[in-house]
Amino acid sequence: VPKLASAAEYFFKMGAEGKRFRPTVLLLMASALKFPISESTEEGVFSMLASTLRTRQQNIAEITEMIHVASLLHDDVLDDADTRRGVTSLNCIMGNKVFISEILSSVQLSVLAGDFLLSRACVALAALGNTEVVSLMATAVEHLVTGETMQISTSREQRRSMEYYLQKTYYKTASLISNTILAGHTADVSLLAYEYGRNLGLAFQLIDDVLDFTGTSASLGKGSLSDIRHGIITAPMLYAMEEFPQLHDVVDQGFDNPANVELALDYLQKSRGIERTKELAQEHVNLAVKAIEALPDSDDEDVLISRRALIDITQRVITRIK
Ligand code: FPP
Ligand code: FPP
Ligand code: MG
Ligand code: MG
Repeated sequence: VPKLASAAEYFFKMGAEGKRFRPTVLLLMASALKFPISESTEEGVFSMLASTLRTRQQNIAEITEMIHVASLLHDDVLDDADTRRGVTSLNCIMGNKVFISEILSSVQLSVLAGDFLLSRACVALAALGNTEVVSLMATAVEHLVTGETMQISTSREQRRSMEYYLQKTYYKTASLISNTILAGHTADVSLLAYEYGRNLGLAFQLIDDVLDFTGTSASLGKGSLSDIRHGIITAPMLYAMEEFPQLHDVVDQGFDNPANVELALDYLQKSRGIERTKELAQEHVNLAVKAIEALPDSDDEDVLISRRALIDITQRVITRIK
């Protein structure tokens, strides 16, 4: 169905393709862990193997981005977001004849486009024929849905809990980054790759939650103050609640009333919430860097460049403004 295919391609078009953070990390990690070349391998045979391996890694990188975009299509419906990556979100394109017909609303089309993209990712994944990779990716998708659900349906106690917030953050963001870079290595190396992805993913989302308060819609390319307006309590506000216990009552009342949003933001501004969240993100970044430094020694130039890039990218996660 052409309408469905164009809708699913929407965020892969020029100008809307985003940071491509997940595929970048995946390919860099793949290079950073390059298998040692056996002395006896003939040059020709090896270069064929290497290029086949790289193609498969690129496929997985593409699949990761497809899963991520599928989750964003659904996320923007759940968050009722009107912009994404600096363009109108798919669910808010109204009356666009290319996508919408009288019987299919833009929201309905977004949900189906997300389903379609996810199923195309499954087909592509299955075609690689590696059950370990399929299983890891499937777990990451399950975690995406778990994290998103944990965020939506919270009890009063859960909304106040840093532990609950961090668990949700792992499922929502860090799992896809950490689990897609695991397959095919010894347990020790896999664990280090996983630790890198997990800590990078946590730092990434912590900064995302800071930017939701401090960023502007123009710089972010998506709406700001979206979390608090939807009653989603993230790390900056959790820290502010520790400093100002009066905030608990405000949070309990919910944020349907814009005056409550303003009140909570006043407290946040007076608190060290933003600063402490950045500090926590920095701690996770430090752990991610440690994981790379603990990888087995190598004198292969590509491997070393990739490891340096993986370390550089951790800094970009902290300093990014979108
Ligand atoms: C963005 O978070 C959203 C996610 C990290 C995950 C969303 C997952 C789902 C909707 C589950 C469905 C998954 C699939 C694969 C179909 P955010 O809202 O905090 O960030 P934002 O500011 O970029 O919107
Ligand atoms: C009801 O069947 C449902 C279907 C035939 C398919 C519905 C498909 C979608 C909503 C597309 C999204 C797909 C996925 C995988 C996310 P039925 O009337 O036989 O149901 P019954 O078992 O309730 O009788
Ligand atoms: Mg969102
Ligand atoms: Mg969301």
